[in-house]
Amino acid sequence: MTSSTNGNESHADSVIAARSLALSRRGSVVVEVDDLDIRFGVTSLVGPNGSGKSTLLHAVAGLLAPTTGSLRVFGADPRTVRRRVAYVLQAQHAPPHLPVTVRELVALGRAAQRGPFGRLDTTDRALVRDAIERVELGPLANRHLADLSGGQRQRAFVAQGLAQSADLLLLDEPAAGLDLTSSEQIRRLLVEEHAAGRTVVVATHDLADAALSDQVILLAGRVVAAGPPAAVLVREHLAAAYGGRLLDLGGALMLVDDDDHHHDVNVAPDAPDEPALR
Ligand SMILES: Nc1ncnc2c1ncn2[C@@H]1O[C@H](COP(=O)(O)OP(=O)(O)O)[C@@H](O)[C@H]1O
Ligand SMILES: [Mg+2]
Repeated sequence: MTSSTNGNESHADSVIAARSLALSRRGSVVVEVDDLDIRFGVTSLVGPNGSGKSTLLHAVAGLLAPTTGSLRVFGADPRTVRRRVAYVLQAQHAPPHLPVTVRELVALGRAAQRGPFGRLDTTDRALVRDAIERVELGPLANRHLADLSGGQRQRAFVAQGLAQSADLLLLDEPAAGLDLTSSEQIRRLLVEEHAAGRTVVVATHDLADAALSDQVILLAGRVVAAGPPAAVLVREHLAAAYGGRLLDLGGALMLVDDDDHHHDVNVAPDAPDEPALR
């Protein structure tokens, strides 16, 4: 098959394609994206708080319509392909006292694939069990969310996303507030999902984590830079996105974000075009 004849949307291999896109919250435009393609792989969305990461994920999940411009997911209107997309919300934004157990929460992910009247069969139940094992919550499967630590609850939401076996997995800061071991575990899971043929888009605060992905999109109400980590995570782009939050300490860069997390960003003093990390 040849690519679409519509010149505006001819990027046939894009999983997500945005053209002249504007997204609004409460009537004000908060993100503008001229031209962006996200292809098969693991893509990290980075940028300061309020830069539009969650808003963009929301739109890709089909939960927020564009104000202007076009957004296509698998070549279609995002609202029409929701069954192919799993969206893991930022755990802090989920109701903390959902009266469900870990297993029930994860099973809801399968129910979303089945539609409102679908019953879970043995395959669904195996996928639920497997997802819970993969986030290492097996022993806590019958606990209520309210009786979990913040990190455990977050992993339960990740398991819900995994259980959906969707073609596109969206995660909003799945590792926020987790210790290094847990966030490395989540990164490993995302790589496994990609190996299983899925496209993964993950919003993250952690630039060192983003440096491990195939593609990075740096946002600040617009796309400051997009491409391979080594091309995006450089001093020039980071300074444009983070402004005064990027401190230059005699050649070493440090990011002071709104959550009082401090990240060392290792840029060689005389090599502004070097990859900023590791
Ligand atoms: N539900 C909402 N209602 C009103 N404004 C919102 C809402 N969600 C986000 N915003 C605003 O939209 C902008 C982008 O926010 P968001 O997408 O949450 O950024 P990020 O996820 O990068 O922190 C911010 O200015 C934020 O205040
Ligand atoms: Mg957010």
